[in-house]
Amino acid sequence: MVESHFDKLVSDLEAKLMEQAREVYSPEVIKHWEQPCNLGRLPSYNTCAKLTGQCGDSVEWFLEIEGEVIKNVSFLTDGCAGSIACNSVLSEMVKGKSLEEALSITPEDIIAALGGLPEKDKHCASLAIETLHTAIRNFWRK
Ligand code: FES
Repeated sequence: MVESHFDKLVSDLEAKLMEQAREVYSPEVIKHWEQPCNLGRLPSYNTCAKLTGQCGDSVEWFLEIEGEVIKNVSFLTDGCAGSIACNSVLSEMVKGKSLEEALSITPEDIIAALGGLPEKDKHCASLAIETLHTAIRNFWRK
């Protein structure tokens, strides 16, 4: 298939954006951004929460809880690369954990697991944590 001029422009732009992202983000952030874990809506969940941060981006979490254990988890976000990476790594951190263990995870734990985040993206880790905590509180309210 012959690559059109438009296709070439798009692929050059994607390559440029990725090059700029690699200058700003750690390899772990890039990995979670390119291939997020647990992205989407669980087919079955017993609590959820959706929050919008000061940046205007939203994060939504879905939890399947059995007893006091997070059996399965997923998230959606319309946020930045940092938001996708924070929610992705957090979703892996909490799967199989007790609610108490999940509540003890801090934004700094997420940032450390990602090998660091640029200053401008640190609030993305807080938004991920706040959304998880709200979903757990919603579960307890039921
Ligand atoms: S979640 Fe809004 S900038 Fe990252």
